[in-house]
Amino acid sequence: MSGPGKTTRVGAVKQITSHSNPIVKEIKGLIAQRKHRTQAGLFVAEGLKLATDALEAGWDIRYLAIGPDARDNPIAQQAAASAKARGALILEVNTAILSAMTRKDNPQMVVGVYEQRTQSLASIRPEEATTWVALDRVRDPGNLGTIIRTADAVGASGVILVGDCTDPFAVETVRATMGSLFHVPLVKTTREAFLDFAAKWPGSVVGTHLEGSVDYRKAEYGEPVLLLMGNEQQGLDAPMTSACNTLIRIPQVGQADSLNLAVATGITLYEIRRPYLEL
Ligand SMILES: C[S@@+](CC[C@H](N)C(=O)[O-])C[C@H]1O[C@@H](n2cnc3c(N)ncnc32)[C@H](O)[C@@H]1O
Repeated sequence: MSGPGKTTRVGAVKQITSHSNPIVKEIKGLIAQRKHRTQAGLFVAEGLKLATDALEAGWDIRYLAIGPDARDNPIAQQAAASAKARGALILEVNTAILSAMTRKDNPQMVVGVYEQRTQSLASIRPEEATTWVALDRVRDPGNLGTIIRTADAVGASGVILVGDCTDPFAVETVRATMGSLFHVPLVKTTREAFLDFAAKWPGSVVGTHLEGSVDYRKAEYGEPVLLLMGNEQQGLDAPMTSACNTLIRIPQVGQADSLNLAVATGITLYEIRRPYLEL
């Protein structure tokens, strides 16, 4: 870990009024650049709902910046007490500082800084899994966030990011997950390691493909399912396609070339997870 917060691991409260405070600069850097997030192993999630989700799910929190509106809000006060008890530094800031940190005219009343958490491919236990979703070079933060949220909604085991993917800890991705980031296990891996892993997968390896020969509603989804979704521009590449036992297609009748990646993932996951989804 690096950065000005390194020496402030004991829970405390600090008032910040200066825009040039190093912690304000650190948070701005975490929001602005992947490089800073990766170096520090930290990320930013805006808003009280995400703070509550993160704290309830036991994620490690470094800072919780709270604006004037949060001071009379019992849920925000509870979040601050819980964050402080876990060693976070509570930053009492004014709206101008919250705005500057987040580069927003109407910032959320709280902004949290958390430690990144991913797990290794080796930690996946196929025998305990039902459905893992693997994304081949996903590029769009909104798509990734929506897929993580959908994986959470259907009770999937987790999401694997294969190759050069967009940052799951970018503020746009985190926002699009609507808190599901804190509940869905995430794995980052290379294509080579993933292909090796997929070759040993004991269940079905299902790829979604525009040239797929099987209607997604008629496919056999033998558990555990490893579902592969392609890149937004290029789809699944040849080695990833070859790793699949089955290539499924979602029928289309209009002029659209393909479905949006997150929509295709949602449609497919709801079919695969149908036995688990009852009102
Ligand atoms: C925007 S599409 C990629 C389009 C890309 N031009 C191609 O040729 O594959 C992104 C991903 O969504 C999934 N997808 C989109 N529409 C689909 C469909 N009708 N059937 C199956 N998968 C689909 C596939 O995983 C695809 O790789």
